Amino acid sequence: MDMKPINPAIGMWVSGVDLANVGEAEAGALREALIDRKVLVFRDQPITSPQYVRFMNIFGETVQEDLVPHEGHPTELCILHIRPKEKQTINFWHMDYSFRPNPTPHLSLAAQELPDCGGDTLFCNLEAAYEGLDEETKQRISSLETNHKVSPTQNAKARFSPKEYKAMTEGEPVRHPLVCRNPDNGREYLFVNVPIYCRSIVGMENPEGDALLASLYAHAQRPEYHFRLTWELNTVVVWENTHCLHYPVSDYFPHERLMWRLATRAVTPPQAA
Ligand code: SIN
Repeated sequence: MDMKPINPAIGMWVSGVDLANVGEAEAGALREALIDRKVLVFRDQPITSPQYVRFMNIFGETVQEDLVPHEGHPTELCILHIRPKEKQTINFWHMDYSFRPNPTPHLSLAAQELPDCGGDTLFCNLEAAYEGLDEETKQRISSLETNHKVSPTQNAKARFSPKEYKAMTEGEPVRHPLVCRNPDNGREYLFVNVPIYCRSIVGMENPEGDALLASLYAHAQRPEYHFRLTWELNTVVVWENTHCLHYPVSDYFPHERLMWRLATRAVTPPQAA
C-alpha cells in the first residue's frame, strides 16, 4: 500500500490496496492515516455495496442513514442521486449533523455515476484552520459555545422522519464548544459550520457574535486548509466529518450524478479543548 499527501494541510492518496480485501495491518495504517490527514482518497475501486460496508467498518460501525433502504443493498447504504434536470442545492461548506449531540464521525462516498465534468467535492481541515488563527482570536474564542439546529436541505426528507425533524426544529438548540480537542491526536480544531446549522454563539446572539462566527467560518474556507477532489468512477473517499467541512460543487446541471454513501455511528460529543 502506498500513501502520498494531497497537500500540506489535508488529504492522502492511497494506492496499492484492494478495498474488497483489506488486511489487519493495512486497516491499522488506514485508521492512523485518516486521523492524521482527515481525508483518504482511493482510485479504481469497483467494489460491491456489501464489500463497501465491510471496508467502512474499519473506521467504525456503519449505520442506516436513508429512512427507506435501497433494494439489493445493505440497509446502511445511502444513495445520493442527483437526477437529470434536478439541481444539487447543498453547494456550501458544511459538516453533516452538527445539530445532533453526537455528530457522525466518519463519512464516505463511492462514485457510481458522474457527469462528464464537474461535480467535484472540496474538503477543508478544521484542525489546520484552528492552527492558522492568530493568538488573540484563539484567546477570545477559547471558552465559547455555539448553538446548532437543523434546517431543511435537499437530503433532509430522505434521512429524517417527520417526527424526528419536528422534534429537532421545535427543541432547544444543541450546544457545542467552538474550540474542541481531537482525542485521537490531541490537536485543537475549530468546530464551525454553515450558518443554517451553526446558528449563533451562546450568550452572543447579537450582531457582534454573528460577525465573529461568520469570520471564523470564512477563515476555515481559506485555500491553505483545503483541497478539491475531481471524482472518477469508482473513486472512494473516507473523511472525518466533524474535523472537516466539505463543499459539493453544483456545476453539472442538467447532468446526473450518483454516489453511494456510508456513515459511522456517533458515540461521543465533540470535546471542549
Ligand atoms: C455529502 O455527502 O454531503 C455530499 C458530498 C458530495 O456529493 O460530493
